[in-house]
Amino acid sequence: MLLFGIETSCDDTATALVRDGRDVLASVSTNQDAFHAKYGGIVPEIASRQHVALLSAAVEDALGRSGATLDVVDGIAVTRGPGLIGSLVVGVASAKALAFALDKPLYGINHLHGHIFAAFLDRPEAPPYPFLALLVSGGHSQLVAVDSATHMRVLGRTHDDAAGEAYDKTARLLGLGYPGGPQLDRLAQSGNPRAHRFPRHRPSGDGLDLSFSGLKTSVRYFLESEAGRNARVEDVAASFQAAVVDVLIDRVQRACTLAPYRAVILSGGVAANTALQTALSAWSERSGVPVFIPSPSYCTDNAAMIAAAAYHQREFARVDPLALTADPNLPFEGCAR
Ligand code: KG4
Ligand code: ZN
Repeated sequence: MLLFGIETSCDDTATALVRDGRDVLASVSTNQDAFHAKYGGIVPEIASRQHVALLSAAVEDALGRSGATLDVVDGIAVTRGPGLIGSLVVGVASAKALAFALDKPLYGINHLHGHIFAAFLDRPEAPPYPFLALLVSGGHSQLVAVDSATHMRVLGRTHDDAAGEAYDKTARLLGLGYPGGPQLDRLAQSGNPRAHRFPRHRPSGDGLDLSFSGLKTSVRYFLESEAGRNARVEDVAASFQAAVVDVLIDRVQRACTLAPYRAVILSGGVAANTALQTALSAWSERSGVPVFIPSPSYCTDNAAMIAAAAYHQREFARVDPLALTADPNLPFEGCAR
């Protein structure tokens, strides 16, 4: 089953062709960072206008790279939410037009479900159900019990900042450019993670919730102090990163003591973080629970994960091309309808 994916929920204009929810024939993402960098963050109006300008070329590019034409495609998959409404509507309108004109099935996908199916792409074995997903992106941070492709339960989520948001805000405090996560990651590689002790959030009881705003504030106060002004920026970056990673590994470990999972998958933009990947792989060795980490280009927003989710959720996610609407607040639970 060959599906064409379209993802425009935030600032990446992405298209992809994926066979059977696994084999990526082409995955194209036109990064808009250059347009947003001078504002230090994503400007929604600019993002939606850029999607309009870039999407047709991104569709052509994915087809060109795979050597396929739209008439051999078995369906169109599109992110219908959550995300920025002005950005979502561009992808949704294009997908509806393609599906209607080609008379092909249309699948409306939850962006966060897409991140989970990124772990199925381009690998011989799929993660076995039930598995635990640690979903850490710029807008969301949550632990999810994935019982099947369409039954997912959120076990814990952040009370305040998402992990990626904490990275971006802390990177700004450190004087790094946008997007901050990858830059902070690079800088931390030459720093000492034990140079400064920043606080680690601990939920009460068996809780699996997360919180990162206390950590970010503590970094800010530290940087304003005498010690902070004399500290090496690499060491502050590495010490901040160590606190984020400790918290995330602690939640995975707690979740796995509360229920048995056959695997843990890491997903979302922060899944590209080298320290987090190393720590999770080390935990996997100790615990014997296999870990699935998507390749870096499938950790951040992409359309291949949307096509993969549509394949695995196809009976539930199929929608009427005339009726599909974008939903910026689409809830995580339940299926795509
Ligand atoms: O999943 P994503 O591409 O977009 C959302 O759906 O939010 O995630 C983007 C986030 C940004 O906050 C970015 O700074 C962060 O992921 N990120 C990273 C790394 N690469 C991207 N954070 C830490 N280390 C990285 N290597
Ligand atoms: Zn995302």
